[in-house]
Amino acid sequence: MKVMSVVGARPQFVKLAAVAAAFGNTEHHHTIVHTGQHYDADLSDVFFHGLSIPEPDVHLGVGSGTHGVQTGTTLAALDPVIAAARPDWVLVYGDTNSTLAGALSAAKQHVPVAHLEAGLRSFNRRMPEEHNRVLTDHAADLLLAPTEEAVRHLTAEGLADRAVLTGDVMVDVCLRLRDKVLRGEATAPALPASRNARKPYLFATLHRAENTDDPDRLAALVDALTGLPVPVVLAAHPRLLARAASFGIKLDHGLLHISRPLPYAELIATVLDSRGVITDSGGLQKEAYLLERVCTTLRTETEWPETLRGGWNALVPDPRELGSQAWSDTVLRPAPKSSRDMPYGDGKAAVRVVRALEDHVAR
Ligand code: UD1
Repeated sequence: MKVMSVVGARPQFVKLAAVAAAFGNTEHHHTIVHTGQHYDADLSDVFFHGLSIPEPDVHLGVGSGTHGVQTGTTLAALDPVIAAARPDWVLVYGDTNSTLAGALSAAKQHVPVAHLEAGLRSFNRRMPEEHNRVLTDHAADLLLAPTEEAVRHLTAEGLADRAVLTGDVMVDVCLRLRDKVLRGEATAPALPASRNARKPYLFATLHRAENTDDPDRLAALVDALTGLPVPVVLAAHPRLLARAASFGIKLDHGLLHISRPLPYAELIATVLDSRGVITDSGGLQKEAYLLERVCTTLRTETEWPETLRGGWNALVPDPRELGSQAWSDTVLRPAPKSSRDMPYGDGKAAVRVVRALEDHVAR
């Protein structure tokens, strides 16, 4: 079986690590196409090296652009690559513009498409990712769902006969790296001395267009982070740095410490070292849950509603509406005492992904 993984953005590299490793134990021919949506070393190379992912077979070098330009350029660049290889499967991951372009290019050339992380829904049509997920699911031939909830969404859209519940491949990687950190083989970067004295800290990320692209909202979120009584380590996506600079918003002040985007092992070590997480990332909500740290999500909804059970995750669409004391109490709340469900699988999802592709090949 010939399988071509199409990836382009940071969270896809993490998922690819699990899938590439699972293919490494088989006779199947697995190739990697990197679209180039993420090109900074901190967002791309460190994941390939740090997670021992084979170098991409093809790099399209597409880069940044508006949604239409980025999706269209990727689609045009992928056409000849898929036409030349004619794989048994094109495997696309998650919900980025690279995902949609990969699904469209393959579907239009009658090459079977499998969508890993199918069936997630925010039901928020203002998110670019929601369009990408829905369109990709409806274009794909095989829907690899991470959760029972995702299977329910696919069923509600008439897609049940293409869906297979595999569990979440991100769990495979997250638990492997957690064990590495616990063995002392990876550590969190040190905080500057002035902030270190006031450990424990909160770990934060902020990158979604809804939070970064409106100057008033971004300023309010930065104020909410700097107003907290404990240090906050904010691993900054280049998009955040670019928007803050253009709006004249100062990031690195008070107890707010700006770091580079972290390699995956360091990210896991930092979450484990922290007392909680504040984020708008889907992946980090789940990583916090798996690593037993409370998470506060700066959004109105989540594609991972299982994390909300028992209070491990809390949605705060706008910290200003809470007031500073309630905001601080929310992000610094103690971890729930109740035990957690494990709705995301057992850390062996990638093997199930390979099996599902074998079972459905050329059907
Ligand atoms: C993309 C995904 C988002 C995912 C995120 C993970 C879409 C629509 N969005 O968002 O779902 O959660 O990746 O990080 O596909 N930039 C750089 N260097 C890079 C890449 C980007 O500086 O290597 C800057 C550019 O200014 C670019 C901006 O970041 O315009 C946004 O990048 P883009 O890939 O369009 O979207 P993300 O915000 O990264």
